[in-house]
Amino acid sequence: MASFTVFPVTPSPLCSSKNGMNSPSQAALIKCMRSSHLVQKENKMRVSCMASIPADDRVPDMGKRELMNLLLLGAISLPSAGMLLPYAAFFVPPGAGGAGGGIVAKDALGNDILADVWIKNHGPGDRTLAQGLKGDPTYLVVENDRTLATYGINAVCTHLGCVVPWNTAENKFICPCHGSQYNNQGRVVRGPAPLSLALAHADVDVDSGKVVFVPWVETDFRTGEAPWWA
Ligand code: FES
Repeated sequence: MASFTVFPVTPSPLCSSKNGMNSPSQAALIKCMRSSHLVQKENKMRVSCMASIPADDRVPDMGKRELMNLLLLGAISLPSAGMLLPYAAFFVPPGAGGAGGGIVAKDALGNDILADVWIKNHGPGDRTLAQGLKGDPTYLVVENDRTLATYGINAVCTHLGCVVPWNTAENKFICPCHGSQYNNQGRVVRGPAPLSLALAHADVDVDSGKVVFVPWVETDFRTGEAPWWA
């Protein structure tokens, strides 16, 4: 335990008053000197205490410092990664969602379409919308012999993008927006639409029996021209 020595201050003859008592200002000066002396002594004790601690014990050892660095790194990098991953994913093009760039066709409820079930529920000449490539509404066509056509017809109008409904009575696709018309295979027969409706292959997966839409990159069989959408 630290002990402090209070040094008696002997008043010098120069400082003493006539009756041996200090004046109030002299008493304050003496008090101040005493407290200053105590502070200096305390500081010396502190320094000597610090000096007595080995240098190795005054800083955390290497293992602790590495652990703290790892914790700090984790605290910074985890939230950063959480923010950066969605940002990076924005630049990755979405996959087609199926083998060979194809995608399984889905019905209005979002269920995979099985070819035999579809044909059972849709009669000859039927054109009903399914979800196609890139989510585009695409008609599945049932041929008159009750087989599924090998092509689907993209329902997005080539004029300004309205979804074109099938008109059974007219045997055409007729756009409600500006009146463009397409024949039963989606070939444009009346403007203002400048182009025929896009095509996609409608294949049937042999293992699962599901209908799969695959991009159509070959010649457009309706016009004999290269596909404008490919
Ligand atoms: S959007 Fe179809 S005719 Fe204009």
